[in-house]
Amino acid sequence: MSTVTLRDRRCWIVGASSGIGAALATELRARGAHVAISARRADRLEGVSRGDMVTVPCDVTDPAAVATAAASVEAQLGGIDLVVWSAGMWGQLDALQWDRESFAEHVEVNLLGLNNVLAAVVPQMVARGAGQIVGIASVAGYRGLPGAEAYGATKAAQLVLLESLRASLAKRNVAVTTVAPGFVRTEMTESNSFPMPFIIDPDEAARAIADGLEKGRHEIVFPLPMAVLMKVARLLPQRAWDAIAARFAAGRRR
Ligand SMILES: NC(=O)c1ccc[n+]([C@@H]2O[C@H](COP(=O)([O-])OP(=O)(O)OC[C@H]3O[C@@H](n4cnc5c(N)ncnc54)[C@H](OP(=O)(O)O)[C@@H]3O)[C@@H](O)[C@H]2O)c1
Repeated sequence: MSTVTLRDRRCWIVGASSGIGAALATELRARGAHVAISARRADRLEGVSRGDMVTVPCDVTDPAAVATAAASVEAQLGGIDLVVWSAGMWGQLDALQWDRESFAEHVEVNLLGLNNVLAAVVPQMVARGAGQIVGIASVAGYRGLPGAEAYGATKAAQLVLLESLRASLAKRNVAVTTVAPGFVRTEMTESNSFPMPFIIDPDEAARAIADGLEKGRHEIVFPLPMAVLMKVARLLPQRAWDAIAARFAAGRRR
């Protein structure tokens, strides 16, 4: 497999004020990339940057703000070679008392936010005939899990969106990489009260993503035990998965 260098690549990471995005920003910078980072919390972006990255605060749910941020990153880095979508939110849904607002918020941030970023970068990459889009989805999009009706639905949609986009842009020399992490110790998971098997730290996740990018992978799934578990889960017949998922649901209600 050929090696793709990250050195001197101009990278914009959206959702980099904490967690996986923040760790990836540091990792890509250490590997010689020029890095710009975005999220809402400007103070946290400055902390991640330590004066060594371009910081452009923005809210991904605001299409005009995302377009302005993309233009600012383009101007400050001199172009964008690689965009990483790492913004996201997770909240456990109680399906017994359907929370319309929570579901809508997941779609707004996780799916329509990604739509806003793609609208801001894809036309320029296609026009240039070069670029790379890296989307952080989740193995939670592989199968339906109780409590993940909102989050899992947006992650499944991201997986399909990225797969479709990879096919559409391949002939235009724009690469699309799907990242599907298992559990990572971040602000997103810190208040989870359920078991999180094979959980890893954000810097380990960042190394796995950077290694996958250097290897030119189309899909980066980690950590290995979770990747194997969820790939197998994806292949299970519906009745078998339904029985397993119902046990999770029963466990939650105890
Ligand atoms: N942690 C896990 O176990 C895990 C597993 C699989 C996939 N993932 C995915 O990995 C990605 C990163 O999550 P994480 O675990 O690193 O969680 P995190 O530490 O909570 O990071 C989420 C990032 O998204 C940003 N964000 C949220 N809403 C935003 C908005 N409206 N506009 C702009 N930025 C926004 C946050 O910044 P601000 O609050 O400053 O805006 C933050 O930088 C997410 O897509 C998540 O779904 C995480």
